[in-house]
Amino acid sequence: MILETKRLRLRPLSVGDSERIEELAGDYDVAKTTSTIPHPYPKGSAKDFILHVLEAANKGKLVIFAITLRGTHEIVGLINIHVNQANNRGELGYWIGKPFWGTGYGTEAANAVLAIGFKKFKLNKIYAQAFTSNRGSWRIMEKIGLTYEGTLKQHIYRFGEYFDLAVYGMLREDYVGITK
Ligand SMILES: CC(C)(COP(=O)(O)OP(=O)(O)OC[C@H]1O[C@@H](n2cnc3c(N)ncnc32)[C@H](O)[C@@H]1OP(=O)(O)O)[C@@H](O)C(=O)NCCC(=O)NCCS
Repeated sequence: MILETKRLRLRPLSVGDSERIEELAGDYDVAKTTSTIPHPYPKGSAKDFILHVLEAANKGKLVIFAITLRGTHEIVGLINIHVNQANNRGELGYWIGKPFWGTGYGTEAANAVLAIGFKKFKLNKIYAQAFTSNRGSWRIMEKIGLTYEGTLKQHIYRFGEYFDLAVYGMLREDYVGITK
């Protein structure tokens, strides 16, 4: 599946993307506000990561895209929805490489993936979580229309510190792009 927005092309991830993913996600500033990206990024491990996520995608547990620029096809980040099939809900997650921060790409990609989460995958709820200190991330959630649901206190221990996690969500019935 390929999603096109004004400036971006969201396409399936492939093993050939390993090197660039490792380079962008290997930046401490990208890893530090996520709860999952390892740091230092183990050399050569992006390939295993990609194989692992492609398997999860095949099982319907994950929807994942490489975020690329429409013009140059350069990768600028990753975006995904972790699907919880039993509860018919998905957790949205994303990162954008540091050279591309603040250009609106995160918001543009998140909007597109929110739409297919409801329209194509028929999820009942899409939610996302961000460190309360990560304004860029919770602003994306607000900008795509997710509503603040609460804060999980000191929920994540990362690089020697505890972080509060803000949770934002949207129900299918509240998604304005759906024709009921
Ligand atoms: C968080 C992240 C995805 C933001 O992506 P982005 O493409 O730069 O975001 P956008 O350009 O779409 O900006 C969205 C909003 O966040 C704001 N923003 C972006 N980066 C910011 C920063 N470092 N500090 C404060 N605000 C920031 C923008 O100004 C915009 O808000 P506004 O409309 O009120 O001005 C990106 O910084 C990133 O990947 N960080 C590391 C990984 C990460 O934290 N992922 C999310 C885990 S929950």
